[in-house]
Amino acid sequence: MPVDVIGRVTEKRIVARDTLRLVVDAPSIAEVAVPGQFVMLGQSVPTSDPFLRRPFAIAGAGWGRIELLIRVVGLGSALLASVDDNDQIKILGPLGNGFPTPSGEVFLVAGGIGLAPLLFAERKWPKSRLLYGESNRDWLCDLSREKTCFWEVSTDDGSEGFRCTVVDLLKAKLETEKAPVYACGPEAMLSAVAELCKSVGVECYVSLEERMACGVGACQGCVIYTEDGYKRVCKDGPVFSAQKVNWEALNDRSGR
Ligand code: FES
Repeated sequence: MPVDVIGRVTEKRIVARDTLRLVVDAPSIAEVAVPGQFVMLGQSVPTSDPFLRRPFAIAGAGWGRIELLIRVVGLGSALLASVDDNDQIKILGPLGNGFPTPSGEVFLVAGGIGLAPLLFAERKWPKSRLLYGESNRDWLCDLSREKTCFWEVSTDDGSEGFRCTVVDLLKAKLETEKAPVYACGPEAMLSAVAELCKSVGVECYVSLEERMACGVGACQGCVIYTEDGYKRVCKDGPVFSAQKVNWEALNDRSGR
């Protein structure tokens, strides 16, 4: 059951260009959160612009605290990025369904800031292996202190790690080993991961990102079309079986 609380920022660190890691005191959320769930964040003092809270994946939880990765992409995230130690923020969560608990090894495939929910997953399930792609090293989150499992990195320009996309990296891995795939990142990347997994016959779950107003299933503002009909990303997801997502409908909508 989600709770609406005021959390206190206990740690703030820049980890990449326009990207920071926040640790926030929020015991009632930290106790029950699972990888793949998210929170709606807002200013402790309500503002008219932005009026609505913003969704952020939970990047870690434990010891009464939750961790968040925030990349500045607009006014809402810029305001949240401006908080300092001991500042307070409004947090509604945990929200959404989360990834299923894996029975063994799993590939975690992260594109860009899609790293956040998989960072939580790699700590929760240390048998997993994380493949993390960015366009170049400036955007790569420096989280070496937080690593629990085996990480491999790719960049489009080869400035760090393998010079390829993270989908290419996954493809190479799946040639020698079959394991379920949990992925989060841009839609085009997720669509390619879903297609790859289908072609080699491995299970795949994706965490979708969507604009959200309420975050709790009330406004219908985050509906997508799936093989099981219309679903709300905030309430029925954000994690879906990749084979259930209607990628064609999603791509058409994104291209509007
Ligand atoms: Fe309101 Fe999903 S954001 S239903």
